[in-house]
Amino acid sequence: MNDPNGLVRYDGVYHLFFQYYPDDIVWGPMHWGHATSKDLVHWQQQPIALYPDSLGYIFSGSAVVDSMNTSGFGQGGKTPLVAIFTHHDPAGEKRHANDFQNQSLAYSLDKGATWTKYADNPVLKNPGITDFRDPNVSWYAKGKKWIMTLATKDRISFYSSPDLKNWTKESEFGVGVGSHGGVWECPDLFSFTRKEADKEKTYWILLVSNNPGGPNGGSGTQYFIGDWDGHTFRPQDTTVRWVDYGPDDYAGVLWNNAGRRRIFLGWMSNWDYAQTVPTSTWRNAMTVPRNVFLMDAGGKIYLASRPAQEVLSLIKRKETFRHLIVDSSGDLSSRMKDDAGRYVLDIRGAADQSVAFAFYNAAGEQLVFGYNNVKQEYYIDRSAAGRTDFHPGFGGIYTAPRISQEKDLDLEFVMDRSSLEVFADGGLTVMTGVFFSKQPLTRVKVNTTDRWIIKEMNYMAVGSIW
Ligand code: FRU
Repeated sequence: MNDPNGLVRYDGVYHLFFQYYPDDIVWGPMHWGHATSKDLVHWQQQPIALYPDSLGYIFSGSAVVDSMNTSGFGQGGKTPLVAIFTHHDPAGEKRHANDFQNQSLAYSLDKGATWTKYADNPVLKNPGITDFRDPNVSWYAKGKKWIMTLATKDRISFYSSPDLKNWTKESEFGVGVGSHGGVWECPDLFSFTRKEADKEKTYWILLVSNNPGGPNGGSGTQYFIGDWDGHTFRPQDTTVRWVDYGPDDYAGVLWNNAGRRRIFLGWMSNWDYAQTVPTSTWRNAMTVPRNVFLMDAGGKIYLASRPAQEVLSLIKRKETFRHLIVDSSGDLSSRMKDDAGRYVLDIRGAADQSVAFAFYNAAGEQLVFGYNNVKQEYYIDRSAAGRTDFHPGFGGIYTAPRISQEKDLDLEFVMDRSSLEVFADGGLTVMTGVFFSKQPLTRVKVNTTDRWIIKEMNYMAVGSIW
């Protein structure tokens, strides 16, 4: 599988559709796979929702709850769920046509269980742009219309519609702004309203995935903060910001219809090696669901993220330690009595020196997450964390700026059998990396320049969810 698609909450159920090819472990004719959950952490696989058809493969897109039945798909008082996706015509691509990606609809009248494709697909025809895909639709209440953000090669195009069927182009954004190391994909537009000096202020966030051109090469997701007036998006500055600086968080978007919550899910892989990772039955999973929110640092605003509270509900045992002294090196393993390699580890200590955490096992494998206080940088080094031979860059060192200026490092590690998700400084800098070790990384060593004091450490063992 790859991108999360059609993230929508309806009737207390979170739906996760995803790019899926059921007949092989590599990318192929895309379907929408489907899974559902009541709590974002226990998922039930459902039958495939959308199959390729005469108009092409089913590429990425979104899903909305059409509660006012603007589309007219609702019958007998039933609320339609409407999926908006890209039809990718492989035959057109083969003949080098430039209009082989078009936007189409499907709807469900049984809460997402079964889907019917709209008879008049496609609803938004390609004007002749080779990359014309990944529609992300939401209701813009102020303008009483649907807004679609669409990835169109090197920019995002905005469209609006009263009924999801007829689309009018509003504007474009992206030329000369942001990172352009590769094609733009999988946009998402959403807002936050917060109080500033007793006034309500609304910020609009535009997520844009890039491939290649990520912060460490390969796939990555940048975002812009700005203003949206129903027609045009205007960024408030030209700073390039990334949702996640690690190598493995791509095509992430938010759940629709999640009330006040802003919940993000990304695909935990990278197109540089997604097809060659050395695993078969458990391949290229999603990140943990993350709450995203605004955070101020150094006079600028950022989109920060932390694991959704549902992730923390999986914790079966928590132990807190205070004032642990690390004399240049120390081993925390005796405080982590677990052998599953699934835990959340929170560590706080002064940011006045370089610190490296080596997550390791008895087989001599280790993954290092560090803070370089000279460069004010975080890094992941997975060169000795298991297999790296399947891609030349996989064993490299991935870096991220420390954006926070707080005196203490505040690191939250979410470790799973084959992935590490790091939320630093309250989620201001995030790094996600996968690894392929022979055994889980159950132990942790710390190396520091000098004597370093862990002011507080929380070790939380995560139980099995199966
Ligand atoms: C992003 C992407 C999308 C496309 C889909 C195809 O990873 O390339 O742009 O819709 O994957 O599977």
